[in-house]
Amino acid sequence: MGKDVIIALDFPGREETLAFLDRFTGKKPFVKIGMELFYAEGPQIVREIKRRGHKIFLDLKLCDIPNTVKGGMRSLSQLDVDMTNLHAFGTIAMMEAALEGLTRPDGTRPLLIAVTQLTSTDQMRMEKELLIEKPLPEVVMHYAELARTAGLDGVVCSPLEAGEVHRRCGENFVTVTPGVRFAGGDTGDQKRVTTPEKARELGSDYIVVGRPITQAEDPVEAYERCLQGFVG
Ligand code: C5P
Repeated sequence: MGKDVIIALDFPGREETLAFLDRFTGKKPFVKIGMELFYAEGPQIVREIKRRGHKIFLDLKLCDIPNTVKGGMRSLSQLDVDMTNLHAFGTIAMMEAALEGLTRPDGTRPLLIAVTQLTSTDQMRMEKELLIEKPLPEVVMHYAELARTAGLDGVVCSPLEAGEVHRRCGENFVTVTPGVRFAGGDTGDQKRVTTPEKARELGSDYIVVGRPITQAEDPVEAYERCLQGFVG
């Protein structure tokens, strides 16, 4: 699996995003476009960043009835992104429909990965609000196995879960892991964090890094430091 650092482009609009990317002269980092940027600028921003030569993870976390998700994925398949995602919570039927929609007429498709339980959901809320009474790590592993059964390529999870996901779902099942911080850095709202070096040790395939790079005084240096720590 190609180990890489994915920069989360959590910016409100096109101008800030392109100004940020312009700082990376001669480099084309793998980037993540999420809801904030996509809902503000639409598919055009995806095409524009793709044209600049970046690999793109389109993080829109789809979840709806299978037929609707299939149609949504069919539209996304035309954007030529490298990776996209959905909620495993939508069940196997929804994930299978998503794969079908995402597969282009020539048989190619972007990687499709699943969100298991959101990291903002804790044991208490899961039990009281979602009425799921199993331990959270067990729920995460179960959803990962559902995703694998549906034929998906991997999951978004914590670096701390990456080893167990690989053990249960196979070494080639991709783990994409946010929650990465430099040693001694500000953790922000992330609760369970690991360094790029530790994420590599734990077996993550891709780390998603936002603020430690986007808010750094020198984002290019911060990106290089992440790459060095994670890929070596
Ligand atoms: O700034 P930071 O490094 O915390 O950004 C992490 C990125 O990963 C954000 O875009 C966030 O939405 C995303 N993410 C996450 N936890 C998840 C899924 C996605 O932090 N479980």
